[in-house]
Amino acid sequence: MTYAPFDLSGHVSLITGGNRGIGLGMARALAASNANVAIWGRNSEQNEAAVETLSRLGTGTATAWSVDVSDEDAVVSAMQEVIGQYKRLDSCFANAGVGMGAPAFTELDTETWRKNMAVNLEGAFWTMREAVKHMVHRAHAGNPGGSIVGIASLAATEGAARNQAYAASKGGVISMIKGIAVEHARHGIRANAILPGWIATEMTEGAQSSEVFQSKVISRVPARRWGEPADFGGIAVYLASSASSYHSGDLLVVDGAYSIF
Ligand SMILES: NC(=O)c1ccc[n+]([C@@H]2O[C@H](COP(=O)([O-])OP(=O)(O)OC[C@H]3O[C@@H](n4cnc5c(N)ncnc54)[C@H](OP(=O)(O)O)[C@@H]3O)[C@@H](O)[C@H]2O)c1
Repeated sequence: MTYAPFDLSGHVSLITGGNRGIGLGMARALAASNANVAIWGRNSEQNEAAVETLSRLGTGTATAWSVDVSDEDAVVSAMQEVIGQYKRLDSCFANAGVGMGAPAFTELDTETWRKNMAVNLEGAFWTMREAVKHMVHRAHAGNPGGSIVGIASLAATEGAARNQAYAASKGGVISMIKGIAVEHARHGIRANAILPGWIATEMTEGAQSSEVFQSKVISRVPARRWGEPADFGGIAVYLASSASSYHSGDLLVVDGAYSIF
């Protein structure tokens, strides 16, 4: 018999950037565990394709919204629509992100800095704030609980050469997560950050096709391979489920042991 907390029947999860990559990897596992899954992304074709895939897994439903998380009004209204449709939100994965670096720190321009911040930090801020608002409201109504997950990066904790804007945006996500965890634990709301290592997605396409990167970096990953979106399924189900109800404020590194080698 399946461990009961991992059956997410009736659970509602939101995954921003859930139409591909790590977000879709998490959404697939949540859907297969019977959760209702709402995904946000800007590309409607990719959204539709993801919904098609997710709908065939588990007993829950899958829905997508076209949302640009760098637009506060869009985040606020889409969150209201998700909660309006499902009547609740149990877990929220602030995963939508972009990775924009510069040839050198001295050449990092303000526009690139702001683009990283707009999606990775402000987008996560608005998404998590609106989700927590609902969870606190529900707790006051006698139904406490909820899980907030910020997808950060090893870039936030390791030195990320030529990637300072991205790293800073992800460091901000970690700081926000810790504050949310402490402030809202009394309502049964927990908040954790996932720090992926090197994962084969559209974001890392350039690195995947670089022989230098392959030989200098991936060869040093103790697991001896790129991470895959599916490597984030188990942790998503765990963090959404009541199995993690006393686990909050943590940074969960998923990197094939890269950062400790
Ligand atoms: N891949 C890695 O090695 C790695 C390592 C550490 C951390 N991460 C983090 O993991 C998360 C997922 O990245 P990934 O590797 O899966 O990248 P990806 O394949 O490029 O996926 C990014 C996702 O974010 C969405 N997105 C981007 N900008 C958005 C916006 N303004 N509004 C709404 N959605 C937006 C994209 O959908 P649309 O284009 O349709 O909007 C897509 O679904 C990111 O936060 C990333 O920083 C990745």
